[in-house]
Amino acid sequence: MASRLYQWLDSRLKLKSLEHTLLDEPVPGGASWIYVFGSATLFLFILQAVTGMFLALYYAPTPDHAYDSIQYIEHEVWFGWFVRGLHHWGASAVMVAVGLHLLQVYLYGAYKSPREVMWMVGVILFLIMLTFAFTGYLLPWDQTAYWATQVGINMMGTLPIIGGFLVRVLRAGETLGALTLSRFFAIHVLFLPAFMITGVVVHLFILRRVGPAGPWDETLAKQKSETFWPRQVYMDSVVMVGIFLLVASLAYFAPFPLADKANPSDHSFIPVPEWYFLFFYQLLKYIPGSLESMVTWILPAGFLFVLLFLPFLDRNPVRRPAGRPVTILAGVGFLLIVFSLLGVSLKNLYAIPKSDPSVLRGQQLFAQHHCAACHRIHGEGAKVGPDLSFVGDRRPDREWHLRHFSDPQSVSPGSIMPKFTMSDQDKYNLSSYMLSLKKS
Ligand code: HEC
Repeated sequence: MASRLYQWLDSRLKLKSLEHTLLDEPVPGGASWIYVFGSATLFLFILQAVTGMFLALYYAPTPDHAYDSIQYIEHEVWFGWFVRGLHHWGASAVMVAVGLHLLQVYLYGAYKSPREVMWMVGVILFLIMLTFAFTGYLLPWDQTAYWATQVGINMMGTLPIIGGFLVRVLRAGETLGALTLSRFFAIHVLFLPAFMITGVVVHLFILRRVGPAGPWDETLAKQKSETFWPRQVYMDSVVMVGIFLLVASLAYFAPFPLADKANPSDHSFIPVPEWYFLFFYQLLKYIPGSLESMVTWILPAGFLFVLLFLPFLDRNPVRRPAGRPVTILAGVGFLLIVFSLLGVSLKNLYAIPKSDPSVLRGQQLFAQHHCAACHRIHGEGAKVGPDLSFVGDRRPDREWHLRHFSDPQSVSPGSIMPKFTMSDQDKYNLSSYMLSLKKS
């Protein structure tokens, strides 16, 4: 039955020749697990597209409703929290997949002639991916989203010549507001997918014209060749299933709460960027203030220039890593710097572990003393006093807290916060809890 149907369709649509073009592409040197990252990236992109479509059913891109519509997706929509989780973790997974794909191509020298154009299209796709991440980050319209985007836009403003233009295009006004949000939304769901799909088609078209690069060893590449189907298809599929299970379990087990709704007048909020921008954020901390505005654009611009034109800068025709020490050492050096910066940054973020018993005790004391009657933490509690959701970033000094609990007026003249009498141990525990309240 199925084969009769297939034959009928084949006679109308010429499926056999299509099947041949799609699946019988030769893979020089044979199928390998090292070639899976490109299809892994494509798979994750499709996952983002599908989950994004469902989120768009409920999401409202206006400052008045964006935050509430996400709350609605999280709490009311059937499996909404899961779809949002997939989209959130999928965005991180895409970054990892792209990174590994880039690394493999770099290590194998696969960007070299005749694949220069394919590499350059790839770099542009990577840029589109980063723009996806940047524009998507604002959409939940919580404090983190709002202030991180503010910082991002300000950084772009430091670019010479095009900086001012970029800021106008992105922010669509003097301040970050309703127009910015609808603009980011339109870029995220209309412009970027169109660019992305075009780019992916061109990238794959070139791949089929020049063929995959295969192993760096010429003789090895010539020795053996097999078609894309079945073994490479099998390997790619196994990896896709694995990735889906991983992203799905993250979405299931690792929920990520929204911060408070964006409050444009709360300038005390200190945002922390997504992990894939953290290394850069850490780097900026080491740069003296006078140079900072230069570094924010010179380093990324230089990096992009080198990345984009790599096939023309590295003209050595050898593809074997051992035969290209300069490129390989440069790559390793870059990775070492990025990962050390990321490590330092993460260490600082998690300096006070949340499971610290002193922090847990402090949390109980916070409830016992009814601090929530005046203070709000992540949306819970009254707003008589300051919001304490991220007080640890704002007031990182334990001494200050200890003095403040005993006598608020001594450090904050005119404060209406009552004096609290409790043991020194309890004050210490309560201050541990305060210090742990950080954006992380
Ligand atoms: C009657 C209302 C009230 C109560 C109850 C209260 N606070 Fe406060 N709190 C305030 C006010 C008003 C401020 C701002 C002035 C100041 O810094 O003292 C403040 C400030 C703070 C700050 C500094 C925040 C910042 O960003 O500078 C911390 C930390 C704090 N309170 C913790 C607590 C803890 C812990 C409790 C419970 C043991 C508590 N508060 C109970 C009203 C209150």
